[in-house]
Amino acid sequence: MQIVDDPIAYRDACERARRDGKRVALVPTMGALHDGHGSLMRLARGRAELVAVSVFVNPTQFGPNEDYARYPRQLEADCRRAEEAGVDLVFAPEVAALYPPGEEARVRVAATAAHLCGAFRPVHFEGVCTVVTKLLVLTGPSVAVFGRKDYQQWRVLVRMAADLFLPVEIVGAPTVREPDGLAMSSRNAYLSADERARSLSIPTALGDAVRAFAAGERSAGVLRSLVRDAIARAASSVDYVEIATPDTVEPLRDDARIAGRALCAVAARFGGARLIDNVVLGEEGPPR
Ligand code: PAF
Repeated sequence: MQIVDDPIAYRDACERARRDGKRVALVPTMGALHDGHGSLMRLARGRAELVAVSVFVNPTQFGPNEDYARYPRQLEADCRRAEEAGVDLVFAPEVAALYPPGEEARVRVAATAAHLCGAFRPVHFEGVCTVVTKLLVLTGPSVAVFGRKDYQQWRVLVRMAADLFLPVEIVGAPTVREPDGLAMSSRNAYLSADERARSLSIPTALGDAVRAFAAGERSAGVLRSLVRDAIARAASSVDYVEIATPDTVEPLRDDARIAGRALCAVAARFGGARLIDNVVLGEEGPPR
């Protein structure tokens, strides 16, 4: 496995692979790799002859009071995990290499990025779209793989790739969970034992929504309250619980009745950890 920090050397390595007739897959990450990332890397492995993983804690997607400084950084361990998963190339640039002095280009998706997390993290998706565009341009992959735990991110990037005619398939891979149902996330490391126990209110409440939906409940307001009330009892605070259209993540009004599938998406804080999770009602089983 090759580890590269220089963007041009990385671009050249990907270009050589493509010239040799290899399909390239990209798994963009911020490092602190866990089994959830492992499943993305394995999915990529099955889709391409060269699998590249980027490890980059992207400053532009964090707001001023967010966890950029304390986000876990562990490149050596990440490289070991990537190698075990059969990755060919790790791209781990310094911040100044992707954002050199004087850079000012930004990529913005409007409506899909404005709902849910976008309402609470105003710069977040612009930062994500900007860095993912840079990574896609450098890599030239035929497929890029993202986790569906960050469901809105996946939909924003699908929109971005379509609107910019980027020749890449943006794949959303199923959420990987701990045995007790908590969605795997690098941010779970912030949880104390007590917060970790209380955070199970999220998969439990999402499971209750799946069961209520399966039993015939179609009121967006009833399903939203069911989930919100349960999580609010356990969390330090709730940013949002929304029932939304799966493709555009636009929240449904409480008086709406669900026809077909619906996204139930959550963001809540447990101490210093902001956790997100979701389930697509009518498509997925209960997470817990
Ligand atoms: O999902 C993440 O880890 C990040 O948002 C991403 C896609 C790697 C961009 O920095």
